[in-house]
Amino acid sequence: MKKDFLTIRDFTREEILGTFKLAAEMKAHAQNYSSALKGKTLAMIFEKPSLRTRVTFDVGIQQLGGFSVCLLPMEISLGKRESVHDVAKNLERMVQGIMIRTFAHQIVVEMAKHASVPVINALTDYSHPCQAMADYLTIQEVKGELKGLKLCFVGDGNNVAHSLMFAGARLGVHVTVACPKGYEPNPTAFQSALEDAKQTGAQIEVVHDAMEGVKNADVIYTDVWASMGQESETEKRKAIFHPFQVNKQLMAKANAGAIFMHCLPAHRGDEVTDEVIDSPASVVFQEAENRLHAQKAVMYQLMK
Ligand code: CP
Ligand code: NVA
Repeated sequence: MKKDFLTIRDFTREEILGTFKLAAEMKAHAQNYSSALKGKTLAMIFEKPSLRTRVTFDVGIQQLGGFSVCLLPMEISLGKRESVHDVAKNLERMVQGIMIRTFAHQIVVEMAKHASVPVINALTDYSHPCQAMADYLTIQEVKGELKGLKLCFVGDGNNVAHSLMFAGARLGVHVTVACPKGYEPNPTAFQSALEDAKQTGAQIEVVHDAMEGVKNADVIYTDVWASMGQESETEKRKAIFHPFQVNKQLMAKANAGAIFMHCLPAHRGDEVTDEVIDSPASVVFQEAENRLHAQKAVMYQLMK
């Protein structure tokens, strides 16, 4: 296993499946792991807002017998008040793991390079691996077997879409990204997913029509149209992305029994309607809870 968890591609297929197994075990028998990371401390660096990530890492490390220290943007001012290198060299002497949510992916790469302790990516502009880990754990809980399923990500080819492609490629889940022209996944991310998919036969594709994308899909997934850092584009994007709203009509084009997923926070009435997110097909809160279990399994494996 690698020292860090910076992208899903840092874990092999076996390591991902092993993480699901451990997460399921921790979910069923949390008390058996109450000393698993006894006395260890996780530093949580946030350069963007958060609800789920903040709470699940904080509660997760405590449930494993450890502690957390939360650092907000004003506190360390990463790269401005102090270089990433120097932050890494300080923290490695004080804590046993570093979780970081930031803008440029290069920052987590640099932190991991300089810190002797594990670094966990808790979202960058490029990827959100902890989210994808919890998402496929959720799909496995609901659907059983993962291999051969089809997931359609409807919306912006963003960080969440990238991680879903990477994990789909590793797990044999076909991933279609249905997005407006000009909002495709990053070409490097797409090529990496195609490369990894050769091992499992997963089909990874991009289409520009939502109705076409969700055909034969078992999972319909969406995310906000403007990610953190893109707030100034919100109004412009609303017009462009409107045909990609996940509503009842779109859900009806997917396979019978298809589930709805969203990493949250959701902008109800934009990328998803209330009737979809509040429908029995929606597993969004199970998905949110699974951030806790999946990340406990990740932390345990890296920090034990
Ligand atoms: N899904 C997710 O990462 O949520 P937060 O931004 O609230 O952490
Ligand atoms: N794509 C979203 C995900 C939030 C969890 C963002 O980066 O803001």
